[in-house]
Amino acid sequence: MIRPAKGKSGDDGVRILAIESSCDESAAAVLDRERGLLAHELYSQVDLHQVHGGVVPELASRDHVQRLLPLVERALAAAATTPAQLDGVAYTAGPGLIGALLTGAALARSLAYAWGVPALGVHHLEGHLLAPLLEPDPPPFPHVALLVSGGHTMLVEAGGIGEYRLLGETRDDAAGEAFDKSAKLLGLPYPGGPHLARLSGSGRPGRHHFPRPMLERSAGLEFSFSGLKTAVLHAVREAQGVPAAPAAGEPNDPSRRGGGPRPLDPAVAADIALEVQSAIVETLVVKSMRALEQTGHGSLVVAGGVGANRALRAALDAAAQRRGARVYYPRLEFCTDNAAMIAVAGLARLAAGEHDDLAIRARAQWPLASLGRPTPEERHP
Ligand code: KG4
Ligand code: ZN
Repeated sequence: MIRPAKGKSGDDGVRILAIESSCDESAAAVLDRERGLLAHELYSQVDLHQVHGGVVPELASRDHVQRLLPLVERALAAAATTPAQLDGVAYTAGPGLIGALLTGAALARSLAYAWGVPALGVHHLEGHLLAPLLEPDPPPFPHVALLVSGGHTMLVEAGGIGEYRLLGETRDDAAGEAFDKSAKLLGLPYPGGPHLARLSGSGRPGRHHFPRPMLERSAGLEFSFSGLKTAVLHAVREAQGVPAAPAAGEPNDPSRRGGGPRPLDPAVAADIALEVQSAIVETLVVKSMRALEQTGHGSLVVAGGVGANRALRAALDAAAQRRGARVYYPRLEFCTDNAAMIAVAGLARLAAGEHDDLAIRARAQWPLASLGRPTPEERHP
């Protein structure tokens, strides 16, 4: 049975449950069109994956299976909402880790079936893009969005909900990946972005210089971050007294030449961290300002985990102010993965009558530009 756009109460109130499980965060949220965000619950698997130095997909899926239903129950209780008051269930259908996605999709689809309401698979990046709509002063459309997460770095022109045009993206590593890989080389725990940001606070500027590839105008709005980790590796090796390349006739094994690499001096690690952050921030700022210039828009939305970085926020604010433009951010906790943002995207579409059929669907890859405006039709992820 498919319910129309009207809420169960017969008035305009529409209330939905949303579930997120695309990577290593399990989350559930309840959003009401009139009353706003009623509850959001999150469990981060960071401790589970930290010992492995990165997300292990099978462990992520197994943990989602255990965590999701209790999170849904907690979110409904915190929102003082019974299933009978819900008008739909939204879930992240992609892009992401396929096994992880399927755990949330199967649960959401089953709950919606049992409760007799529509289910809708949401695009994870549309969730990130629309997260700032939860704030008291939401961004106007059209705007430019900078999407910077562990898996994506892209600039998007957003004409409205579902109207996304890709302006440019990374050719290799994502900005979050560049933070995480550099942090790993500095011996910081996973995920390294926030740790590197913290360490950079005590760094001394100018002691290292890292590349800012593709800043030139001819590179347009494309990004490339893969060269950064190589430059960081060289800087770390140099600081540890490891020769860059083996001398002629010598094996490249520093332990045979007197004791092996020195432990990295924490002050030097902080200097490197500061310059890594500066290189990433400067690149993101230059490209974002170029995107505003090219489109003529005066608003920039920043979304995704790297949007939590304070140096990035300060630099973007300053650069935008010089242009007379404004930057909009989600609150810090909604920069990284969460179900509240999935609820925003899901509610916009469910309230318009959009819904899936009874199949359980998930997509590891799903181009953002293939989305359209919310429609009162059956559409599938
Ligand atoms: O959006 P998100 O939670 O997950 C993905 O969809 O990828 O983003 C996670 C990424 C990680 O790479 C993490 O290191 C980075 O966001 N991140 C940060 C900060 N907080 C999270 N990077 C730099 N500075 C931060 N404060
Ligand atoms: Zn994300």
